[in-house]
Amino acid sequence: MKIIVGITGGIAAYKSPELVRLLKKAGHEVRCAATAHALEFTTRATLETVSGVPLYSDLFAGNATSTEHISLKDWADLLVVAPATANIIGKMASGIADDALSTLLLAMAPQRVLLAPAMNSQMWAHPALQRNLELLRSWGVVTVGPDDGPLACGTSGTGRMSDPAAIAAAVANGDWTNGDGGQRLAGERWLVTAGPTYERIDSVRFIGNYSSGKMGFALARVLAEAGAEVELVSGPTSLSISHPRIHTERVESAREMYAAATKAFPACRGAILSAAVADYRPRECADHKLKKQGSEGMTLQLVQNPDILATLGAMKAPGQTLVGFALETDNELQNAHSKLQRKNLDFIVMNSLRDAGAGFGTDTNKVTILGTDGSSKESALMSKEEIARLIVNTVTAS
Ligand code: PMT
Repeated sequence: MKIIVGITGGIAAYKSPELVRLLKKAGHEVRCAATAHALEFTTRATLETVSGVPLYSDLFAGNATSTEHISLKDWADLLVVAPATANIIGKMASGIADDALSTLLLAMAPQRVLLAPAMNSQMWAHPALQRNLELLRSWGVVTVGPDDGPLACGTSGTGRMSDPAAIAAAVANGDWTNGDGGQRLAGERWLVTAGPTYERIDSVRFIGNYSSGKMGFALARVLAEAGAEVELVSGPTSLSISHPRIHTERVESAREMYAAATKAFPACRGAILSAAVADYRPRECADHKLKKQGSEGMTLQLVQNPDILATLGAMKAPGQTLVGFALETDNELQNAHSKLQRKNLDFIVMNSLRDAGAGFGTDTNKVTILGTDGSSKESALMSKEEIARLIVNTVTAS
């Protein structure tokens, strides 16, 4: 591929030459475009040396009629902005083109832009920034990271640019490599379940788990960015997602999730069930707050919930693809294999709670994707966004 690496003014710009090196090593042709502030953190000489070609950083370059941004956008298959500051994200969302890189970004089709955001965690959490990113994603822009960790400002949190190796891996996995502008799944409908379920004990208490919904929401986003219509059935979570092709149904209990998923599945090309569904619920739910009684313990009687994944496995029609998750703590691969067969799945995504940074609540995950055809794909620890891309590309490959 022909790739432009865009560099904006953040401390993570010191890692951009390494990204250029990795992309070139992977066989890509690479050019660099930088803002003036980026060159406070890295240098023209470094970028020109690693890329082997002149840097694009001046809109006019001594020529008032320069249209280099147009010839560059015609040349490139992909524009990777790493680091992408809050400023460039805001400019992109508003269509502002006031220097070489922002003008190039306005000329590029959004489906050919990959952003690796990097900033302070409070800037990352700001509603304006999140709104801008949602808008860009709805146009087809893909994001990688940011990761959690120590930040240049001395604090710690979400905002570190993903490692150059993870960004290079996202380029290798990306939908744009299919050459259809990221709309590879156009016309398909996919069901995704996400988050935990809550099983009520009384009017104020429930049995739940630590699922945040991040994995399922990332899957929904990646499917929608690839052109699919997505039925997202989510248990209780604080997350929200806004994309014209994602239809979200909020549920609370396993039985509600079962009803929504079994209703949606027949019209779907496939389903990815990442929700952490409670296997049991209290036999009875009190309609008032249960009071403490005496000094004895309390016995809660539980009954089994329906198994949504096994039910969809039994309903599955030819041409439908069913993907389950397996959250394991021991005998991981053996248990995952057994679920793959028992529930009539096509793929199972195993994540182990023994891997640091994987599973509940984290922004990252590490998975092994097993297929009924005997295939096995093991990932590195990556952001849930990147894991979602790996899963979607694997299960929709045929
Ligand atoms: O939400 P996050 O904080 O991002 O965390 C992501 C995750 C850890 C929840 C996710 O990666 C994950 O592992 N989801 C599956 C969790 C789980 O319940 O695994 P399980 O091994 O118990 O279930 C196996 C499969 O059956 C899952 O696809 C599950 O959705 C499904 N299931 C389970 C029980 C049930 N009654 N109905 C089901 O459909």
